Amino acid sequence: LEFPPQTQPLAGIKLMLTAGPTREALDPVRFISNHSSGKMGFALAHAAARLGAEVTLVSGPVALATPTGVTRIDVESAAQMHAAVMQDIARQHIFIACAAVADYAPKTVAEHKIKKTQSDAMVIELTKNPDIVADVAARENKPFTVGFAAETRDLEQYARDKLNRKKLDMIAANNVAAAGQGFNSDSNALTVLWPTGKTELPLAGKSELAILLLTLIAEKYHDTHR
Ligand code: CTP
Ligand code: CA
Repeated sequence: LEFPPQTQPLAGIKLMLTAGPTREALDPVRFISNHSSGKMGFALAHAAARLGAEVTLVSGPVALATPTGVTRIDVESAAQMHAAVMQDIARQHIFIACAAVADYAPKTVAEHKIKKTQSDAMVIELTKNPDIVADVAARENKPFTVGFAAETRDLEQYARDKLNRKKLDMIAANNVAAAGQGFNSDSNALTVLWPTGKTELPLAGKSELAILLLTLIAEKYHDTHR
């Protein structure tokens, strides 16, 4: 399904997204991860392609089909996702970080399956992962950079803080504790913030919401590249 050219505000634009969770290995059979389904990121990739963009989707492990016309790169860990993004970021006009990247990874990955011991307690040491979206936004010729913020409280305050701290051009915040907006939901509502303003995108299906958010991103992108 193609949109006519006059409704393709992302024609000629190279757009990269991250989506899904990451997996941080503990040993050959175990990992630390989260409940991200990848649905929002994949809906955005699909919508971006329909709006005319050349789309690269860097995805963690998800059970979703690749949208038509989208180039997909599969990764597992945050470190792999970081490397895949940096490999191709220089030629991108827009970067959208939708992935639920694990903040920490086990400090060491056991070569063999970790065995149960006599002790009732077990401690796993973790080390901080690279911040992919912050590293992209810190680049000299950075693309228009959009982050997501999944919060369970003080949504706008935390999101505004992330926008500033990571030097993003825009952040889309969603309340993952609210009904119908969870990690595995088919619908979502977003509070979108940028340095000089904000707008609300009310509860809608993720594909409809994706078109609305990308239309807004295209507008702001073209505003700053006039
Ligand atoms: N992000 C990223 N790399 C990381 C962590 C987060 O690219 N290692 C991106 C996410 O894809 C999202 C944004 O940063 O676009 C915000 O993620 P979030 O987890 O909400 O922010 P954190 O800075 O990790 O803060 P916290 O988890 O403490 O709320
Ligand atoms: Ca985080």
